[in-house]
Order: sequence, then C-alpha cells, then structure tokens
Amino acid sequence: MRDETLAFAREGYLFGTRRFQRAGADVAVTRLAGVPLTLLRGADAARFFYEGGRFHRSGAMPASVQHLLQDEGSVQSLEGQAHRTRKAVFLDLLTGGAESGLVERFGRELWMAARASAGGEVRLIDLFSVALLRAVCAWSGLPDAVAADLERSHALQRMIAGAGTIGPLNWEARLRRRRAERLLADTVARQRHAPFAPDGSALAVLAAHTEPDPLSLEVAAVELLNILRPVVAVAWFLTFAALALHRRPAWQDRLANGTDEEVRWFSNEVRRFYPFFPFVAGRASRELEWGGRTFPEGSRVALDLYATDHHPALWDEPGRFDPERFDGLVVEPNTLIPQGGGRYAEDHRCPGEPVTLELMDEGVRRLTRRIAYTVPEQDLRVSLRRFPALPRSGLIVGRLSFRD
Ligand code: HEM
Repeated sequence: MRDETLAFAREGYLFGTRRFQRAGADVAVTRLAGVPLTLLRGADAARFFYEGGRFHRSGAMPASVQHLLQDEGSVQSLEGQAHRTRKAVFLDLLTGGAESGLVERFGRELWMAARASAGGEVRLIDLFSVALLRAVCAWSGLPDAVAADLERSHALQRMIAGAGTIGPLNWEARLRRRRAERLLADTVARQRHAPFAPDGSALAVLAAHTEPDPLSLEVAAVELLNILRPVVAVAWFLTFAALALHRRPAWQDRLANGTDEEVRWFSNEVRRFYPFFPFVAGRASRELEWGGRTFPEGSRVALDLYATDHHPALWDEPGRFDPERFDGLVVEPNTLIPQGGGRYAEDHRCPGEPVTLELMDEGVRRLTRRIAYTVPEQDLRVSLRRFPALPRSGLIVGRLSFRD
C-alpha cells in the first residue's frame, strides 16, 4: 500500500469519501505518514469504533495534532473506570443545569461585543470567538486577569486554527498552549491555596476533584483547557451558521419568527453539513473483528466523521443543506456524529455536544432576531483542504444595527 499523505493534503475532508466510493464499501485501507490506517464510515462503524472500549486514543494521532487538541492525563487519554470517573465531572459541569449560565452569558457577551463593533466592519469568527471566550472564562470562575491574558494572546483561537497545520504555525500554537497551561496550572494552585472561584464553577470543581487523589496541577490545567478551548471552537460552527443564513435568506426570514424547534433543526444541519473534525483515530485495544475483517491489537483505525455525516445511505441528498430533514427525525446517536459517536458517560462522545447546540441556537437567534448587518463583497469560499475549514474571509459583516 503506497503512502497517501500528499493525497490527503490535496483532498482534505473528501479523502475518505473518495476511497469509500472507489472501494464500494464503508471500509478503505490507506497509509498516512508511513503508518497503515483503516478508514471506516457509517452508523455501524461509529458504534464499533466508539462503544465497548475497543479503541484507545493515545498514540493514534500525529504529535502535532495531539498536543493541540488533547493531552496526557486528559479525559480523552483515559479508558475504562478511570475514564468514566473523569467523564462524570465533565457531564456534571456541562449537562447538570449550570451550563444554562454559560449560554446566557454568551448571549450577553455577543450582544456587547457586537455593539462595540457597531461603527465599522468585523469578522464574525472574531466576534463569536471573543464573546465565547469571555463567557466561558467568567462561567468557569477564572479571575479577570487570567481571562484578559487569554484574550490578549489569542491562545485558544490559535490552538484551534493551528491543529491542522504543520511547521511554524503549529509550533507557535504549541508554544501558546504551553504558556496557557502554565497560567491555568498557576490559577488552580491559587484556588487550592485560598479558594475564590464560585462553588460549582469549572475551576472550583476541577481544583477540588479527587480520584481519590487530587488531580496534578498539570492535569487540572489540561482539563480546564478542555472546556475553554472547545467552547471557543463553537465560533467555527457559528460562523458557518451565519454563512448558511447569508446564502439562504429564506431561512433568515423563517428563523426570525421561527420556533425553537426550527432553530434546532438549523443548528443540527450546520453541524452535519459543514466540516470540522475530518476523522477521529484510535488504536485497537485488543484483536477485533468487524465486517468480516480482523484488526490486530495496536492497529490504527479512523472513523470518518465527515463521511458519515454525508453518507448517502444515512442522509437523503447529503450534499444539500436542508434543516427540514430534521423535522420529525429521531436522531440516532451514531448517524449524526460531528462530535463523535457512542454514548456520553461510557464512551468518548463529546460531553460538550448538548451545550454546543444551545450556544449555536442562542447565536442563531441573536443573528436572526436582534442583530442586523450587511455582508460586503468578500471571499467566502470554504476550502475543504484546510483543517478546520472556515470561509476564507472569516465572514466580514458591516453596518450593524440592533433590536432590543
Ligand atoms: C465545535 C464544537 C465541538 C466539536 C466539533 C467537538 C468535537 C469532539 C469530538 C469529535 C470528540 C470525540 C473525540 C474522540 O473520540 O476521541 C470530542 C470529545 C470531547 N469534547 Fe468536544 N467538540 C466540540 C465542543 C465541545 C465543547 C463545547 C466542550 C466542552 C465545553 C467539549 C469537550 C470535549 C471533551 C472533554 C471531549 C473528550 C471526551 C472523552 O474523551 O470522553 N467539546 N469533541
């Protein structure tokens, strides 16, 4: 099998889809960066990949990606009981009720940041990122000075944008990550020494969490970052939501007076249709059988999220943006998987998925009901070769006006 690293760089998000089409199957074998890799897509594949602890994450991704999106000792690197114990902390924080405070704060921050840009033009990716960052820092209980430092350094945005790069951009993002980790480790130490963060906030909870021993400062910092960074990443989905509204003015009008249910269809279709993570890679934890194939222990397998969200057997006309496809649809957990498959508590499915949807709904409601703007001429093309993808201009808007 010849190495296809260059083809992957050329074909980007479509790399897997083309190989599945060529193989006439939901399995394709390739070699990336010299390492053999089996690509899978579809609902059965998602169940096989996510459920039952069959695949470990450590060592499955190149270091350049791994060091920006996950880290040693983080929930993503754990398995079995240790994983379930740590995962419960994330689920309590993100689905236990307190997350509504994050959504509400985001709405307010977006409103204030948009008002501050009223006179000129602003890139929506920047507007959403800054509003999400301010909201999640305050909600997590971080001191203002730490929030201001993270905002000034653009550390989180660069980690997200740098994850799919190699060379200087990636090194720079990794440097920023290390700096942010030190800053957060220091904040956890201060919290432990003389608690100041509100009870139940992410900082207070992670600083006090025991398993039964307290988390090391480094791991507590990494887990805080595992909340801060992906909340900022929701800015990428929101920018795509704004692009979808711009391209389909009928939906702009419909959602201006629409129901919460229609807003949710729209957010889900944005997550299905637009690209974010191309795939998630893992290593077989033991010898496995699936679809008549054997996967030896340690072999590398990747579940193609993008290809599953565009699988013609799961989605009618997958290349068409159509929020109405969610009307009356009971979404099966392993068919819509932009944030992973499987179950929340037992598997590696994203614990931030429900709050991502809430944040998107809130942003979409603000854009369609309370903030009006024009979209000047610009390059809105989305390259499927860039990870994570984004409209080239970042979506510049101008002449903002407001409805209270
Ligand atoms: C742009 C929005 C987001 C996307 C595309 C996304 C995507 C994903 C994906 C694909 C996974 C599974 C990784 C794997 O299988 O190894 C994951 C896991 C995770 N996500 Fe998200 N996520 C998003 C938002 C969030 C938010 C808002 C949070 C927290 C506030 C979050 C926290 C996490 C954590 C902690 C994990 C690891 C879970 C585990 O290993 O059990 N994510 N995410």
